[in-house]
Amino acid sequence: MTLVPPYIESLIPYKPGKSAEQIREQYGLSKIIKLASNENPIGSSPKGIAAARDSYHDIQLYPDGGLMLRNKLAKLYEVKLDNVVVGNGSESILANIVRTFMDDDEEVLTVAGTFIGIYVAAWSRGVKLVTLPLKDFAFDLEAIADAINPKTKIIYLSNPNNPTGTYFNKKQFEKFMTRVPSRTLVILDEAYCEYAEDFDDYPDSMTYRLDNVITLRTFSKAYGLAAVRIGYGFAHEDLCRNVLKVKLPFEPSSIAQAAGAGALDDTEFLKLTQDTNRIGRLEMPKLYDELGLKYIPTAANFFMLPFDTEDEALKFSEELEKRGVIVRPLRGFMLPHCVRITIGTKEQNEMLTGALKEICLKSA
Ligand SMILES: Cc1ncc(COP(=O)(O)O)c(C=O)c1O
Repeated sequence: MTLVPPYIESLIPYKPGKSAEQIREQYGLSKIIKLASNENPIGSSPKGIAAARDSYHDIQLYPDGGLMLRNKLAKLYEVKLDNVVVGNGSESILANIVRTFMDDDEEVLTVAGTFIGIYVAAWSRGVKLVTLPLKDFAFDLEAIADAINPKTKIIYLSNPNNPTGTYFNKKQFEKFMTRVPSRTLVILDEAYCEYAEDFDDYPDSMTYRLDNVITLRTFSKAYGLAAVRIGYGFAHEDLCRNVLKVKLPFEPSSIAQAAGAGALDDTEFLKLTQDTNRIGRLEMPKLYDELGLKYIPTAANFFMLPFDTEDEALKFSEELEKRGVIVRPLRGFMLPHCVRITIGTKEQNEMLTGALKEICLKSA
């Protein structure tokens, strides 16, 4: 169609993980668990829910464009209001960053094997996306630094990385940043940072003050608020000021902001989330080893399992689905031979364990 530019025409629509309803209908199962989208298995922050409910009495009013939550985040993280952005999920901020800073002939540099959101943001902006291979399923920061050219405008890093679960450490990050020119912007996506706190050498970006880095974070994972669409970011005021110009004026909704603000106060829920995840993170590898399944050690709330072929990965996912466990094959993430499995609650992990044992011991 001539009205549509070729870079939009060729875009492949985002395919979310299968829903429990789809699987229930397909296989006629009564019990289904969704371990496909890295959602919070214990639910949502009760304080977040309560605050969202309270905000309902004002929904006849337009929201304030994010001011309330930005103020709260600024106070909490001891930065200026001008250093904070918020949006309809961190994915919306990511898309706005690409729209704000990319010129037509500039390039986005990242890896094949990271969050789909950056691919879609670059492709839908019609700019060149350069993807380097992963090294041992992790970001190869040296190779990325080597690949920077005069057109490299944005480098996207996810730490821990979705979907591999790997992370780069403080030393690697600091060395990398000495090689990034100031004309290149680094997006440091920390959607899973709350789970990585267990790792002492994890580089929490809030401990740095780098003028060409934007940190992105989300309430969708550790705070369990994926459905309300609320995310945030930190950066130098000049960067934030311009991203805020591009953002939809009334994004995010007052309900989403209230939920996020409430969740920030909910240290109890955050701790329960982290504790629950830690148990699964330490337990599941024992099972994978026992069953001879390859997995990548993780710093996040999911494991990635590599197979030899895409067919094997798809067959494995289908076998789990038949047993009521929804997982995520990773073609869209440019890793078609891999599958990602979210870490669940104790009960969910037990159901996964039962299904895995059936599948692996049957085929042995
Ligand atoms: C690395 C990464 N960044 C961003 C997001 C998007 O988060 P949000 O729900 O805040 O848009 C996700 C969600 O899966 C993610 O894995």
